[in-house]
Amino acid sequence: MTKFRKIGILSSGGDAPGMNAAIRAVVRKALDESVEVMGILGGYAGLISNQIIPMSPRSVSNIIERGGTVLYSNRCPEFKTEEGMAKAIETCRAHEIDALVALGGDGTFRGATDLTNHGVPTIGIPCTIDNDITATDYTIGFDSAMNTTMKMIDCLRDTCESHARCNVVEVMGRDCGQIALNTALASGAVAAVIPEIPFDEAEMLARIKHLASVGKRGFLVIVSEGVRTPDGQKYGEVLKVKIHDVAGVETRFARFAHVVRGGVPTLRDRLIATQMGVEAVELLLQGKSNLVICERNGVIRPLDINYALIADRYYKGKLQEGDLDHFSKEEVLSMNVLAEKRRADLAHLYEMVKATSK
Ligand code: ADP
Ligand code: F6P
Repeated sequence: MTKFRKIGILSSGGDAPGMNAAIRAVVRKALDESVEVMGILGGYAGLISNQIIPMSPRSVSNIIERGGTVLYSNRCPEFKTEEGMAKAIETCRAHEIDALVALGGDGTFRGATDLTNHGVPTIGIPCTIDNDITATDYTIGFDSAMNTTMKMIDCLRDTCESHARCNVVEVMGRDCGQIALNTALASGAVAAVIPEIPFDEAEMLARIKHLASVGKRGFLVIVSEGVRTPDGQKYGEVLKVKIHDVAGVETRFARFAHVVRGGVPTLRDRLIATQMGVEAVELLLQGKSNLVICERNGVIRPLDINYALIADRYYKGKLQEGDLDHFSKEEVLSMNVLAEKRRADLAHLYEMVKATSK
């Protein structure tokens, strides 16, 4: 039974390669089911300022292979206010939009659950290069960003080897070390420095010094942008100086920044974006909402957005008073299992970097 006749789609927060593939999948699947689709330009800001365009099968032609988002994205503080929400709801009513699909990260999902509570049922699709949403093993954009990061690190490896240098590389990920850790492993770095695991600086400096003394020429150290010194400095830049001064190896610093948020999405991102987009429409057709589409142990499945948001706070140690009150004992237990698994997976990879960088 088709519950919704017209849906809207928007992308919000930081863009991610693969967002276009998800937009395409949602639009094509909905139209195939005779559900109209409206594109909202510029995320929640477009909903507030009535930037709405009708989508057709052709309006998503030739975008599956493109980075960025054809619907544009934005960070929109006004959406968090009652006035902003009222304008957004008014736009949905004016265009007879029955339900929404929102692509983005946890901020976007907070907005999605607010929309559902205000009468516009919404489903979220996790899109962020950071892979920092606890409820899902995978977020669209992660693989593309890692591959771009890895290729750039490979370029640095060439020049480090030629000049017998070290390169400290700061990579994106906000407070999540997933990009840093995985790319460090895949590019043979001597260390990954991530916010989640304490870093033994003295051990690494001694290791670099020793390896240089026995003939190793090139060194790569990958530092997550979220790691800072106690006085708030970006740790990568500080470490660059220490490697030179303490380990005696000439060292350069590189920050890849937003470069890795663009570019052609990988097969993995296009595939999962398509699967998640189709799943979101199928759920809306069943009249379901306030869900986030997750990938868990290789299976695409929806989870309640509120559960996903609190599971995220649980993992990140950011629980607020009363957060767990609405969840059963089993649900809280499952949040703990999620958090423990995430920690264990990270620790396992971390040990692997050390073990393979002797
Ligand atoms: P991401 O979705 O990648 O986490 P942001 O945190 O910037 O990115 O969130 C994207 C947008 O979602 C924000 O600009 C805002 O419009 C909306 N949003 C964020 N947090 C909330 C919140 N607590 N309540 C309602 N809307 C929110
Ligand atoms: O969340 C994605 C991300 O690219 C983070 O890795 C980074 O910290 C942040 O967004 C940068 O945000 P902005 O695009 O606002 O500079």
